[in-house]
Amino acid sequence: MTSPQWLGVALLSGAGWVFTAHAAAAECGVTVETGDNLKFDEEVITVDPSCKEFKVTLVHNGKLPENVMGHNWVLSAAGDVAAIAADGMKAGLQNEYLKPDEARVIAHTELIGGGEETSVSFATDKLEATEEYVFFCSFPGHSTVMRGTLALRKDQG
Ligand code: CO
Repeated sequence: MTSPQWLGVALLSGAGWVFTAHAAAAECGVTVETGDNLKFDEEVITVDPSCKEFKVTLVHNGKLPENVMGHNWVLSAAGDVAAIAADGMKAGLQNEYLKPDEARVIAHTELIGGGEETSVSFATDKLEATEEYVFFCSFPGHSTVMRGTLALRKDQG
């Protein structure tokens, strides 16, 4: 029995489903804020597998310049962090504390000081779904505390 009334209900619930699916579309980027301290305000970043590219915007809300309290956002495999940070320290401020053409880095922003903002976009096909990556700041002394994790997975929240 397809009375016009029942048809109307079916159409309405159909439209509702489409709207919900659209609203839940993945957000392919995140803003990470920091300041004159050794802390990112995001410690766990989830990249939805449906994202082809992912954009990280880094905001430095502090006042200190980059040679004193510089911050960048560097992504690598967890096991590479210490070596990248050590080589970055040797590379110095003129190289923004990253070895030039550092192959172990998956993505990184430039180094910024207080009041500045920067961003980086990277292709998500560089990420393995089974791996948990680490993001950190390569400014000397920052990487041991100024870090978080990034993984490719469906966001449950
Ligand atoms: Co830093």
